[in-house]
Amino acid sequence: MPPIISIRSLSKTYANGFKALDDVSFDIEEGEILALLGPNGAGKTTLISIICGMTNPTAGSVMVAGHDVVTEFRKTRGEIGLVPQELTTDMFETVFNTVSFSRGLNGKKADPALIEQILRDLSLFDKRNNALRELSGGMKRRVLIAKALSHEPRILFLDEPTAGVDVALRKDMWQLVERLRKTGVTIILTTHYIEEAQEIADRIGVIDKGRLLLVENKDALMRKLGKKQLAINLQAPIAEIPDSLADWDLTLNDAGDQLLHNYELGSNDAHIGRLLQALEAAGVRFDDLSTRQTSLEDIFVSLIGAKA
Ligand SMILES: Nc1ncnc2c1ncn2[C@@H]1O[C@H](COP(=O)(O)OP(=O)(O)OP(=O)(O)O)[C@@H](O)[C@H]1O
Ligand SMILES: [Mg+2]
Repeated sequence: MPPIISIRSLSKTYANGFKALDDVSFDIEEGEILALLGPNGAGKTTLISIICGMTNPTAGSVMVAGHDVVTEFRKTRGEIGLVPQELTTDMFETVFNTVSFSRGLNGKKADPALIEQILRDLSLFDKRNNALRELSGGMKRRVLIAKALSHEPRILFLDEPTAGVDVALRKDMWQLVERLRKTGVTIILTTHYIEEAQEIADRIGVIDKGRLLLVENKDALMRKLGKKQLAINLQAPIAEIPDSLADWDLTLNDAGDQLLHNYELGSNDAHIGRLLQALEAAGVRFDDLSTRQTSLEDIFVSLIGAKA
């Protein structure tokens, strides 16, 4: 199957001369969930705006379902639902009308039963006759999602869907994303919560300063960049690591009472057994051992050099 979105050598320089995207190329497959990670100002929203046809690229191209987003805007926009990062909606309109109107804007026939179902799925049905200004922040965010789904798009963009929402709503959103995936919708989300990407994405893309640093299957990424760390708590502090242990990747903490050893995720138990024998032979006594596996967050921080 051809990719549903194809991004080629995409660059964007804003009118003030700022280069927000720099030669970005990758494909998005139909039905996948892609999480875009990157610090503030990395270019995530810019990338989404270009794919959605709201911002023109300076160079390069984007095809959505086989159509160019600039020259065939109407065709590509109809395939896409966008939940924007910023809330911009008429606050005096009711929930039902707002969502229904959104469907009309995308050129689809009115379908009150469908709108009702979407509102039920998002736990907004009880508020259907309330004006938007009467809703809480989290509910307004759900209205944005309802609007994006109102015209039954094949592709859904969620730009920071869970920023500032409570834990319960975040979990609700994850479930909604999972339900949508089952219906075959392709989902691209940006998030600052790395655990969120770890939880729901099939693939992870990392953007920094307008450049795509990597885009990879989540499990493959964890295998490739993930490491395990063994912490060895010593019975008595030592001044330095004995020479006989020089071949092992070991670091001693400042207090001298803990050794840390990094090793590949795929290493077998015998590896640790040999290390413990070497410690024994060197006369280094320990109380206990613990292991920790690198998280996606560790990988991200090592790539970007800062937190998202
Ligand atoms: N209209 C504009 N004119 C000039 N510069 C812009 C414009 N829009 C965005 N930028 C700049 O482009 C860069 C990327 O912005 P963008 O909104 O794409 O980042 P982001 O990755 O979505 O960040 P965040 O995580 O904060 O939402 C930023 O430095 C921003 O200041
Ligand atoms: Mg953004």
